[in-house]
Amino acid sequence: MRSCICLSPSNGFQVFVILVMMIHRKKYDIVIFGGTGLTGRAVVEDLALSVSSGKTSGISWAVSARNCEKMVKILHEIQDSNETGDLSNITVIEADVKDETSLRRMTQQTRVLINCVGPFKSTGEAVILSCLSTHTHYLDMSTESVFLERMQVKYCLSAEEAGVLVVGSCGSKSLVCELGLQFLQKNFPGELVWTESFGSDSGHSGHSDSMSCMTWDTLLGVMASSRELRRIRKTLFESVFEKKTPKYRHKLKSHSFRSHPLNGWLVCVPPSYDIDSDVVRRTQTQSYIDNNSRPVQLVSYVTLGSWFRLIPLSLHTLLFGPLIFLLSSFSSGRSILSCFPRFFSWGSFSRTGPSITTSNFEVVLVGKGYLTELNTPEEEPVPPPGEVTMSLRIKGPEYAHRTASSCINQAAVTLLKERDKIRFRGGILTPGLVFRETSLRQRIQKHGISFDILNSI
Ligand SMILES: NC(=O)c1ccc[n+]([C@@H]2O[C@H](COP(=O)([O-])OP(=O)(O)OC[C@H]3O[C@@H](n4cnc5c(N)ncnc54)[C@H](OP(=O)(O)O)[C@@H]3O)[C@@H](O)[C@H]2O)c1
Repeated sequence: MRSCICLSPSNGFQVFVILVMMIHRKKYDIVIFGGTGLTGRAVVEDLALSVSSGKTSGISWAVSARNCEKMVKILHEIQDSNETGDLSNITVIEADVKDETSLRRMTQQTRVLINCVGPFKSTGEAVILSCLSTHTHYLDMSTESVFLERMQVKYCLSAEEAGVLVVGSCGSKSLVCELGLQFLQKNFPGELVWTESFGSDSGHSGHSDSMSCMTWDTLLGVMASSRELRRIRKTLFESVFEKKTPKYRHKLKSHSFRSHPLNGWLVCVPPSYDIDSDVVRRTQTQSYIDNNSRPVQLVSYVTLGSWFRLIPLSLHTLLFGPLIFLLSSFSSGRSILSCFPRFFSWGSFSRTGPSITTSNFEVVLVGKGYLTELNTPEEEPVPPPGEVTMSLRIKGPEYAHRTASSCINQAAVTLLKERDKIRFRGGILTPGLVFRETSLRQRIQKHGISFDILNSI
């Protein structure tokens, strides 16, 4: 039975005053934290453009950084090189992850916080705690499963009680994949069982100098925390989720290398680094528990194109792969890797002035399943899924920053404008769960990210 809290008139009045104060303190709808970083700057630019062009309306916003002077300079640069209109009236709030008071001062002023300060594994928890205590919804672009799953294990109940939505991976990874998979599932003629994701090279591994050293450091952190992740995942799937998903005989196999008529040569994203699969798995598990829906299996590949690219990459992986793996397992090794990102990453990451490229990305999701819907999610016919195949192509501007910025900004706008369509009061959740019933896909489509069904066989 639910316990009910009785408020005396004086107590009730105090609560009322606190509530009024809290509502009044929320001066902004959105605050972007870490606006001086490569990703943060792209998020600020995207929101400024979206507001000035009228694609996003009725939103009050501010920015936050530990170095306000740097932030003001960046706002000037954005204003000078874009048609954003006047940005001199945008408030800059000073906040440092290491200073709890400054974090609270920042989070209590906004209804939604967009956190662009990484690596999230070491900085994100303090920001989430501040959001929980000030009743602020939290979004980030984390690609670190160990951080996301640890936060879910530690704070899922507190977030629910506080009525705060904490949603990680709202950048291009893994929001794009989650929305694509839902779109495919909705249009699939029958029962979708397996999905393979084929990302274009520019989409997944980036061009030379396009990724910052922070993203490289984040990747090294992911490699170093594989043992911790295994431990946390065990707790998450055994204690936090109330039910286990069914075990299927027909498992979607991954191939290290393979060719595909649409995408040429492909290399499989190793499961321990495939953030999309991790996020999708959490979404599918919760959906199975809540709606008794079949958990769809996902394997991701990166497109390499021709043999000419496959050969040098294979040689690089053979030469450096084991070395990187070994060095990433101890801290002085990670320092060496961290000092020479360009050398170890085959030019994909740089410590000197990375820039956002003008490339485009393309991801093709190929779904396989059965023509007739099965009676239960546990049911599994004798032939492996493949009776029906349907492909979905997702295309958009540069993946890691441009697409990521539109995704996270529109996720924040959707949360503010369509709160009534989000069935969770609060929690540490995935984008697929939170935005399932909303128009987020349609909103990001207006920002140049398209979702097209290619064929159905
Ligand atoms: N999911 C996706 O699609 C996606 C895409 C791109 C990036 N990311 C992730 O986003 C994160 C940021 O990447 P980035 O390339 O933007 O890194 P970056 O350019 O190095 O920016 C880091 C930002 O964090 C700020 N910062 C660092 N320590 C701080 C502290 N103690 N208090 C307050 N602010 C602090 C920095 O401020 P200063 O300027 O003062 O140093 C800067 O604004 C990474 O973890 C990366 O993996 C995800």
